[in-house]
Amino acid sequence: MPDLIREVGRRRTFAIISHPDAGKTTLTEKLLLFSGAIQLAGTVKGKKGGKFATSDWMDIEKQRGISVASSVMQFDYREHVVNLLDTPGHQDFSEDTYRVLTAVDSALMVIDAAKGVEEQTIKLLNVCRLRHTPIVTFMNKYDREVRDNLELLDEVESVLNINCAPVTWPIGMGKTFRGVYHILNDQILLFKSGEGRNDVSEIIEGLDNPRLDELFPLEIEQTRMELELVRGASHPFDLEQFLAGSLTPVFFGSAINNFGVREILNALVDWAPAPAERDATSRAVAPTEEKFSAFVFKIQANMDPRHRDRIAFLRVCSGQFERGMKFKHLRLGREIAANSVVTFMAQGREQVEEAYAGDIIGLPNHGNIQIGDSFSEGEVLAFTGIPYFAPEMFRIVRIRNPLKIKQLQKGLQQLGEEGAVQVFKPLNGSDLILGAVGVLQFEVVASRLANEYGVDAMFEPITIYTARWVSCPDSKKLAEFERALENNLARDAANSLAYLATSRVNLDLTRERWPDIVFHATREHA
Ligand code: G4P
Repeated sequence: MPDLIREVGRRRTFAIISHPDAGKTTLTEKLLLFSGAIQLAGTVKGKKGGKFATSDWMDIEKQRGISVASSVMQFDYREHVVNLLDTPGHQDFSEDTYRVLTAVDSALMVIDAAKGVEEQTIKLLNVCRLRHTPIVTFMNKYDREVRDNLELLDEVESVLNINCAPVTWPIGMGKTFRGVYHILNDQILLFKSGEGRNDVSEIIEGLDNPRLDELFPLEIEQTRMELELVRGASHPFDLEQFLAGSLTPVFFGSAINNFGVREILNALVDWAPAPAERDATSRAVAPTEEKFSAFVFKIQANMDPRHRDRIAFLRVCSGQFERGMKFKHLRLGREIAANSVVTFMAQGREQVEEAYAGDIIGLPNHGNIQIGDSFSEGEVLAFTGIPYFAPEMFRIVRIRNPLKIKQLQKGLQQLGEEGAVQVFKPLNGSDLILGAVGVLQFEVVASRLANEYGVDAMFEPITIYTARWVSCPDSKKLAEFERALENNLARDAANSLAYLATSRVNLDLTRERWPDIVFHATREHA
């Protein structure tokens, strides 16, 4: 038991989030480099911008180095075991990207300081807010011309609705980037550009140190002035507020130059929370409970096309996982012997020998595992808080060969249950509508329908803005709503009723007209 407490206490499980091109891949690589998990830069970063055959994950993995396989990475840092989960962007953006955030205890937000807060960051942060996930912020690319520091913080506060507590503060930028002032330690960390782990060339004690006036009088004067303003306008770091998700410590640096990376790692280890309790339908489950339990937050298909297998990603919630152990798959009511469970190290996949709360393990299966499934030893536990998210893109499905309608329905039913895409059946009409949050999901579904179900499907655009699951405590009112708006209503794979809004205005008006109906942007796993 003391071992279990120690193992849980030294775990940190976080997601790295950003808008594409902010430097997420670069920073991931540097985190691995600083932890000693990889020796050389260039191992994680794969080719970018190319278009990949989405059905062939092996090929994607080959072309991108390990970037796809490495959507989960585990490494050690200062006596801690760190699990880093990627949130794929670019053409990989999908509902999984959101759901990854349900499996972590904190998140690292990377912002391109030349651009500020961008769209994908806003979306991901909104999902973090659902669980009050603590956020650490990294303002990247100070070796370039960037925006005004105070303006950047202001934007984070107003757009993302989170208080900022700068922990470091940049001195200069671009060609005159000199380093950062560590506000809590009253130290100046001098910047030296270039690769390698020698990130800081020198540390100077005290902001008033006259050496600074000798080294870079202009920039230090500016920094001192800014800091006066910062002290008045921003918030001091407060651990409790950080843990409650209402305040984010902000660090400045340049990932490509390794600058600021060590401070981030230290913040994650020192401040970010160890795995906490997780809610199941019957009770909350503590991470230090002896019995093993876990839930599925992501399924990746066809990682190995020779086997057509799928990997279910499980977040361990309690107990100790050991190779070969048996646990129950609650939905199917069956016991599983976990012999070939894999873990995800910086350099690739390995067999798991043991795992604890906070760790992510991969369970190969043939399609019988769904998003949100729970596994446990002994007591039946069904974890909550692994939602489906309202789709933002929609397509009508058509098939070239009408004789394949049965296969199409079966295929979409299974892909819907697995969480690859959402499938809506309108109350009126026989068309099926697919909903996703990223276009990649449609491509994956088209290719899987063809390969696994022999269905040649076409997807056509349809004017739907978003979906909202609806409920009402008064069943009469709900029935009335259903009759009045049946042309806009559909049922999803779990038979839940959803309103398909044609525009934002349409959604707002419907809400106003039906004040008793509750419109939900997420739906819990059935
Ligand atoms: P992403 O995963 O968030 O999409 O971003 P990624 O790390 O791929 O970085 C996007 C671009 O920004 C890359 O340049 C990368 O080299 C650059 N970058 C990352 N961190 C810094 C930084 O601290 N300073 C500067 N100046 N650039 C940075 P690219 O030209 O798109 O790719 P590449 O040709 O360098 O690979």
